[in-house]
Amino acid sequence: MTTDELPLLEGRDLIQLYAAPTGPTQALRGVDVAVRGGRISAITGPSGSGKSTLLAVLALRERPAGGELRHRGRLVSGLTRRQLQRLRRTEIGWVAQRPTHSLFPQLDALGQIQQMARLRGVRCDPSSSLAEVDLVAHARSLPAVMSGGEQQRLAVAAAAVGAPALLVADEPTAELDDSSAALVLALLRARADAGSAVVLATHDARAIAAADTVLRFRHGVLSGSQDAGRDGLLIDGQGRLQLPPDALALFPDRRVEVVVADDHVELRRALE
Ligand SMILES: Nc1ncnc2c1ncn2[C@@H]1O[C@H](COP(=O)(O)OP(=O)(O)OP(=O)(O)O)[C@@H](O)[C@H]1O
Ligand SMILES: [Mg+2]
Repeated sequence: MTTDELPLLEGRDLIQLYAAPTGPTQALRGVDVAVRGGRISAITGPSGSGKSTLLAVLALRERPAGGELRHRGRLVSGLTRRQLQRLRRTEIGWVAQRPTHSLFPQLDALGQIQQMARLRGVRCDPSSSLAEVDLVAHARSLPAVMSGGEQQRLAVAAAAVGAPALLVADEPTAELDDSSAALVLALLRARADAGSAVVLATHDARAIAAADTVLRFRHGVLSGSQDAGRDGLLIDGQGRLQLPPDALALFPDRRVEVVVADDHVELRRALE
């Protein structure tokens, strides 16, 4: 196998345990996963199923309690703390589920982008980074005075500086209206096209529809994976389904009558 064919990250039988009053919680119970550049992978599943835990392990923020994780073929358990720190700083973009957790509280929006470029040792035009997420007007705002959605867009823009080899984002569209979500998803796609491996945890049908691969999680195990466009559509955690454009065209006024039959569901144009 050549280096090009190696996944950026490969996890085998990953296990993660957390202490809880009732005894250890097994947040990951034997997960096999491969992450490759140039793709958006979405991890979906019920609350508490282990999505954030898997992201933290993949982003090299937490060491798994068991199993084997390889980064470019090298065992992560064999890396020193310094090597891990360096990888996290230079190669891994991280958007926390609470976006302020991945922002510097003392830096304004422009400063966040500049600081990230410095840490990664890359050149970037901070204004165009902010423009990508429609935050130019907030260039001089601190995270504390920004709305939840603005913080989320800023956290994504900062994490994406320089198209890091791995870009991990925990529910990056949770607080966003449709137009802001579209900006963030377009930014993530642009980084994937530039070679980043993009991994998301999400409940959001818009993000799931934008992914190349969808991994379904349940009680700490992957219960299925699906490549977009091959085996049909996915229904997200809130019961939403994104129709493909040709199906959507059948509902010009977006009014739908849902008919539940014995073993299937029909969508019909609803009459006024
Ligand atoms: N630091 C921690 N200490 C103790 N338990 C934890 C910790 N982090 C996560 N857990 C537990 O591990 C399990 C998986 O949590 P995780 O945050 O990965 O779920 P999730 O799928 O991201 O959920 P959500 O959709 O609500 O964000 C849960 O039972 C959670 O309570
Ligand atoms: Mg989570």
